[in-house]
Amino acid sequence: MANIIDGKALAEQIRNSIKQKVAKLKKKPGLAVVMVGEHPASKVYVNFKAKACEEVGFHSEEHKLPEDATEARVLQVIDQLNRDTNIHGILVQLPLPKHINEKNIQAAVSPSKDVDGFHPYNEGRLLIGDPTFIPCTPKGIIKLINSTGMQILGKNVAIVGKSNIVGKPISILLLNMGATITVCHRETKDLGGMTRQADILIVAAGKPGLISAEMVKEHAIVIDVGVNRVNDKVVGDVDFETVKEKAGFITPVPGGVGPMTIACLLENTLEAYERMEERKS
Ligand code: GUN
Repeated sequence: MANIIDGKALAEQIRNSIKQKVAKLKKKPGLAVVMVGEHPASKVYVNFKAKACEEVGFHSEEHKLPEDATEARVLQVIDQLNRDTNIHGILVQLPLPKHINEKNIQAAVSPSKDVDGFHPYNEGRLLIGDPTFIPCTPKGIIKLINSTGMQILGKNVAIVGKSNIVGKPISILLLNMGATITVCHRETKDLGGMTRQADILIVAAGKPGLISAEMVKEHAIVIDVGVNRVNDKVVGDVDFETVKEKAGFITPVPGGVGPMTIACLLENTLEAYERMEERKS
């Protein structure tokens, strides 16, 4: 039976440490969240983010735009936030409505306020192993792996999912840490053959029940990034009940990766604040 990695407790430790640091600051770190439209899951995430900001003593503001807002309008809001000295971090909640070009929006956020790490400049820095802002979910995943005590250097890692938010950045981060990486996706021929080689298996595919016990190496670390609603219950991409009997460590859903993503967003916002205020003094 696997050890359950308690992301909720680890995230709470990180928030407490941030809270203590913020109490000593002259000015509050500020995070702005831009949300376009009414995506139901996004609304839940945005509320979590606002609550977490309040808890650690950050200033936070939400900029809600209607589903039919033009790209020019969204760019205008970002431009205003880029210049706002009370705002240190800007996050544009994804997904955006289809008529808006996500890349244009991400490139408009000032790289120094890009707490998601999605600006092409910050993505490039990550690629060459000199990151400024590490995207929140990948950053949280590294902390979850480190919490097991297992060394990353030399390990075989399989990542299921190749998104720009999770799959690609986590593969680059772990590659830069000396792991051997296999990135699997929809077109991968023998998914189980790939995942069974993995000392560390990271699943971010958005498919409930995708990973069964026979696809997992004995004693592996299994990180489940999936958030799927099935019969009014939130489940991951991993069949938790059977995989937990085989894995060495496993993250639950909810209570694994999710709270860590938010804790890392706070951490990135504090980093942005420190860099900005240090530059002034
Ligand atoms: N939507 C799902 N995950 C994320 C994330 O990490 N950042 C943003 N901005 N939107 C998301």
